[in-house]
Parts: sequence; C-alpha cells; structure tokens
Amino acid sequence: MRDTYLQQFASRWSEDSRRNFRKQPVVIRHNYNEHHAFSDMALAALIDRHPRDLIDFCTMGDDATDHDSWRAGDPGALTGMELIEAVRNGKLWINLRHAMDTDPQYRPIYEAMLRDMKKADPSFKPLSAEAGILISSPRAQVFLHSDVSETMLWHMRGIKRFRTYPAQAPYLNLDDVEAVLHKDKTEDIPYDPAWDSDAFTVDLHPGMAANWPLHGPHRIENQSGLNVSVPFEISTPQSRAKNAILYANGVLRRQFGYTPKSVETEGLGAFAKQMLTLAVKLKVKLFGERVRPMPKSERTFDIDPDAPDGFVDRAAA
Ligand SMILES: [Fe+2]
Repeated sequence: MRDTYLQQFASRWSEDSRRNFRKQPVVIRHNYNEHHAFSDMALAALIDRHPRDLIDFCTMGDDATDHDSWRAGDPGALTGMELIEAVRNGKLWINLRHAMDTDPQYRPIYEAMLRDMKKADPSFKPLSAEAGILISSPRAQVFLHSDVSETMLWHMRGIKRFRTYPAQAPYLNLDDVEAVLHKDKTEDIPYDPAWDSDAFTVDLHPGMAANWPLHGPHRIENQSGLNVSVPFEISTPQSRAKNAILYANGVLRRQFGYTPKSVETEGLGAFAKQMLTLAVKLKVKLFGERVRPMPKSERTFDIDPDAPDGFVDRAAA
C-alpha cells in the first residue's frame, strides 16, 4: 500500500539555496515538523522502544566557552513521557542516535528528507547518511564543534539560535579535525565569543532547516520551548576525500614525525596520502585498533523531573 500521508510533507528550496547548498550556509523551509512523529506522544514511545545504548542523556553549563561543563547522566527507570517532561522543565539534552535511519516509523521520513536533498542538488551523492533525533530543553546549548561529516539540521519544534563560523583559522584549526579523525579528541573546539560577529546566525523556527560547509564550526543556543530537531550526518565522496587527506596528515605527524603542510585533495601528493590512509585503515581492520574511552561518558547525574534543572547530581565517589 502506498503511504499517501507522507506525501503531504516536503521542503522548499530557493534558487540560491540550491546553488549554495554545501558551499555556504543555507536555510530552507519544510513542513516535516507537522508530522505526528514529532509529537510528545510519538517521541515518548520512541524513547521507550529505542535501544538505550543509542540514547545520550546530557546537561551543560551556561558559559559557551566552558566545554567541560558538558556531562552525561542516567535516565534511571523513567518513562519516555517522564523524560520529555524533565527536558521541557529542566536543562537537558537527549540524543536518540540513529533513530531516523533505523526506527521503522521514522525511516520513511528520513528517506523523504534525503530524497529532498538529492533532488535539490543532483551533484549531492551521499555514500552513507545517519540521522538521530535531538530533544533539548528551552535553555540548553551545544558548544562550538566541527563535525567530520557533511551536515544538515532539520528543525521541528521550539526555537534555537544557530551560528556557523568559517571553516578556517582562527575559528577552525584543521589539526583539530585531524585529531578527531584519529580519535585523539572529541569534536569540541575552542570558542571565542568575539567570533560571533563573523558568524552566520539564524534563529531556527519549526519548519526550517540549515546546512553549512563541511567542517564548518557551529554552536547552538536554544531560545524557547521544548526543542526537537533532526541532524543528518552524511558521508560524501568530497567529505571522504578531504578526511582521507587529513587522516594521512595525522599518520605522517604521529607515526613519522613529519609536519604536513598541504590539505589539498588533488594532485600526486594527495593521491599518495589517500593510499596511505587506505593502507592504515586496512591495517586497523586486520589487526584492530586501540580502544580509547570517549570523554564525558561517565554518568554524573540522575534525571529527576521534579528537580529544578531536571536532574540531581550524584555524590562524587
Ligand atoms: Fe554538529
């Protein structure tokens, strides 16, 4: 049977947004936010059935430069609806990783959104794409970071201020991206509030979506309401090529004590680096990799819908 309900949902791209997609910050309009899948009831049921090891429960401080205030917590035995209430009244951030691309009820919406992006830009050829669902408090924020994949943030509920900065110094140090690819650090990057005047800034309302260039640093400050959004993380031939070069530079630096200068993706040097990355990745596949614990995974609070910020700190051990 054909799903005619889903045909009501679409996105609208201007000429400019099609042309600038993935090259400059772009904002488009859509109506996926009106889909019942993003109602409290549907999201609560999703939280109850989604694998718990694919859900992150976090909180953070008020200072946008204080990355260390980001920390993880424990949902205990609370139901999906109780957790949503805690987010609505507290200062929390829930990430349902892979919800859009693995849950049978959300997968058709994920596919429709991906189709929209491909239709808007026929040169956009995703190799793989994953998408989660973020549910966050009216006063939550996400600190400045740079994602290794191409990204598009589809906003569904609440209002959030989105800022993205040029993918170049001083806003972004490519050595940091290199370190992320080598799993030496998280995607967080240092932030200076003075940079805000150089940022592309937009208040995302329900029914808007933002895209920005690969590795573009960005940060988010929620403004009001329970926020729900869908971040797509997409691997493309372009992101793969760029990351292969950065990864190879990291191998040269880490294993051969050589300081690479070029991040070019074309030419003989780039080809050699792509081969080096392939060789190292093959070695990792065959012999395994040292497992490094991800920072901030230790749970330092318990979610409590009755507490002022929606959680109670655990006593330090
Ligand atoms: Fe991001």
